[in-house]
Amino acid sequence: MTSFFLTTAIDFVNSRPHLGTAYEKITADVIARYHRLKGDDTWFLMGNDEHSQNVFRRAQEQGKDPLAYCDEMEQVFRDVWRGLDISFDDFIRTTDQKRHVPAVQRLVQACLDNGDVYEGTYEGPYCVGCEEFKPEKDLVDGLCPIHKTKPEWIREKNWFFRLSRYQRPLLKFYADHPSFIEPEVRRNEVVRLVEDGLVDLSISRAGQSWGIPLPFDPTSVVYVWFDALTNYASAVGYGWDDALFAKRWPANLHIVGKDITRFHCVIWPAMLMSAGLPLPGRIFGHGWVFFKGERMSKTMGNIVDPLDAAKRFGPDPLRLYLTKEVPYGGDGDFTWERFEEKYNADLANNLGNLVNRVAAMTERFQHGRLAAGAGGPLAALAAEAARSYAGAMDRLALHEGVAAAYRLVSAANEYIAETQPWSLAKDPAKADALARVLYEAAEAVRIAAVLLLPVMPSSAAEILRRMGEPASPGDLRFDTATAWRTSGERGILNAGALWPRLEDKGAITVSETKSGDAGAEAPALHSEAPALHSEAPALRTPAAPVAPEQISIDEFMKVQLKVARVLEAARVPKSKKLVQLSVDVGEATPRTILAGIAESYEPEQLVGRTIVVVANLKPAKLMGIESNGMVLAASPEGGGALLIDAEPGAPGTRVR
Ligand code: MSP
Repeated sequence: MTSFFLTTAIDFVNSRPHLGTAYEKITADVIARYHRLKGDDTWFLMGNDEHSQNVFRRAQEQGKDPLAYCDEMEQVFRDVWRGLDISFDDFIRTTDQKRHVPAVQRLVQACLDNGDVYEGTYEGPYCVGCEEFKPEKDLVDGLCPIHKTKPEWIREKNWFFRLSRYQRPLLKFYADHPSFIEPEVRRNEVVRLVEDGLVDLSISRAGQSWGIPLPFDPTSVVYVWFDALTNYASAVGYGWDDALFAKRWPANLHIVGKDITRFHCVIWPAMLMSAGLPLPGRIFGHGWVFFKGERMSKTMGNIVDPLDAAKRFGPDPLRLYLTKEVPYGGDGDFTWERFEEKYNADLANNLGNLVNRVAAMTERFQHGRLAAGAGGPLAALAAEAARSYAGAMDRLALHEGVAAAYRLVSAANEYIAETQPWSLAKDPAKADALARVLYEAAEAVRIAAVLLLPVMPSSAAEILRRMGEPASPGDLRFDTATAWRTSGERGILNAGALWPRLEDKGAITVSETKSGDAGAEAPALHSEAPALHSEAPALRTPAAPVAPEQISIDEFMKVQLKVARVLEAARVPKSKKLVQLSVDVGEATPRTILAGIAESYEPEQLVGRTIVVVANLKPAKLMGIESNGMVLAASPEGGGALLIDAEPGAPGTRVR
C-alpha cells in the first residue's frame, strides 16, 4: 500500500483561525481525503506553533501563563477545524514535552555535531510579526513590508546555522527534483533567492524563557522557525521513536502559504541535510485568500470567521467555494455576495436540483427502485470525468478536479432535460426507456458524489445514501467506486432539498468580525463548537428573524385571483423557463399569460388544466410577448415550480 504523509503549516496561536488560515487546512484536507479514497495509507498532520514572541505577549496581555493560554488556544483551533470537517490524524504542539522538545534538541545537536552551528553576535532588525531577522535592504521606509511595523533592533550573542554552506547542495537538489517546489512560480522565486546567495542564519535567542533551551547552551532558546519546522519530524517519532520515524518519514507533501515557502524550501531542507535526514517529497506554496481584494487584518476590520458559513450551511458549501473558485497555487478572493451566488448556482440549482429530480422522478415513476444496466452517454462522460479528476488531483490542481466532477453534474442535468423522463412516463410503451434513463442519471450522480467526497464529505455521503450506494463512504475506493455499475438493483431515496435556494439577494448577512488575525487582537477564548447543519439561523446575523409583514383583508382583496382553463401552451423560443399560455378567464377572448414553468412542465402537460391566475396584474412584456396576468405556482425549496390546480370550475370564478 502506498503511504502518504502530508502536513500543513502549524499556526501561530496569537489569534483564532480566520478564513485565510482555514483555506490552507481545507485544501490540505481535500488532498488527504482524496488519498484515503485512493486507498493510500494516509497520515495528515496539523498543529500549533506556540513559541512565538507574539503568543507570549498575547498571554501576558491577558494575564495568563503562556502555556495555559496555548492550552486554551489548542481547544479553539481544534473546535474550528472540527467545525470545518478537517480530518487530521495528528495534531502537534511545539510545547509538547514528550515529542517535540526532544526532537528539536536532537536536531540542533545533530547540526552542531556536523559542524554547522557556531557562536557569533547578531546585530540588526528583527520583526516579531514575521519572527524573522530582517536584512535592512528588505525594509521599506524602515518598516517590515508585510506587517508595516518598525522591527526591533537586536544585538545579542547568537548561535548561527551555516546556511551558506548549503547553497550548492540545495541548487543541485532542486535541479535533480523538479517537482520539489510547486507551483512553478514559487520554484522560480526560491531558485533565484538561493542563486543570489545565502547568509548564515541565527538560530537562537538569548535570555528568553519562552522557547526550547539549546541543549549545549541553556541560557538561549531555539529560534522559533528552527523550532517550528521541526514539527514535521517530531510528530512522527524523530528524537523519541526511531522505528516510527523510519516508517513515516519523509513527508510526501508540505502544504504551506506562499509567504512562508522559502522557510520550507531553503531552511528546512538545509537543516535536514545537515542532520543527514531525507528531504520531503514536495512542498506546495498555495496562494492567499483575500476578502474583497484586501488582506484580512484587524486594522481593516475585515476578518472572516469560517465558522460563520459552517454554522449556517454546514462546512461543505464553504469547502466547495474555496476549492472550486480559487485556482490552487494562485490567489483568490472571498465575498459573501459571491459565496451566496455560487451557493445558489452550484449547489441549490445544479447539484441539489439534480439529486432532487432524479430521486423525485424515481419515486414517482419507478416506486423508488432502479435496476442497473449498461451505461449510455453519461457512462462515457463519467469515465472521462474520473480520469481527468484523478489527473488533476494528483497534480494538486484541486480546482480542475472539482471542475471535472461538475462537468458530470451539469451533463446529467442536461441529459434529463433532453430525455424528458416525464414525457416517457406518459407512454407505457416507453417504460424500459424511462427506467434506463433514470438509472443512467442516478448512476452519474453517484459517481459525481464519489468525486466530490473529498471536497464535501458529508453532503457527498448523503447523496451517495440517496442514490442507494450500499457501502459506507470510508470503505469506497476510487477505482471501483467510480466504475459504472451494470448489475443489481438499488433503492433511491427522495428526501427533500439538500441546499434550499437563498431567495433574497444578500440573504447571508454577516457582520465582519474584528476578532483578529495573526499578530492581531484578542482571541475569543470560549470554545465555539459549531452546531453543524443546524436549522437555526446561527449566523452572526444582526437581528432576529423578522415576522412577515401583515396586510389587511382589503389589501388582499385588491388581488383578483381567478379560476382559468389552459387552452393552449407552447414553449417561448430561446427561453429555458417561459411557457406561453392561452387561458380562458371567463372573458370574451382568451388571454395570453407567460409563466416561468418550462423547466417543470411540458406544454402538453398543461393544456386542459384548471389553474388559478392573478387577473388584475399590469401587463408586462417578456421576450417580446405581452403577458396579461400571472399563473399561481409554488416554488419548492429545491427549485422548479408546482402549479396550483383548481377543481374544474367555471373560468373566471373569483378565488378568495
Ligand atoms: N507559524 C507559522 C508557520 C510555521 S510552519 C513550520 C505561520 N503561521 S500563521 O498562523 O501565520 O500562518 C499559518 C498558515 O496560514 C501559513 O501557511 C500562511 O501562509 C497561511 N495563511 C495565513 N493567512 C492566509 C490567507 N489570507 N490566505 C491563505 N493562507 C494564509 O506562518
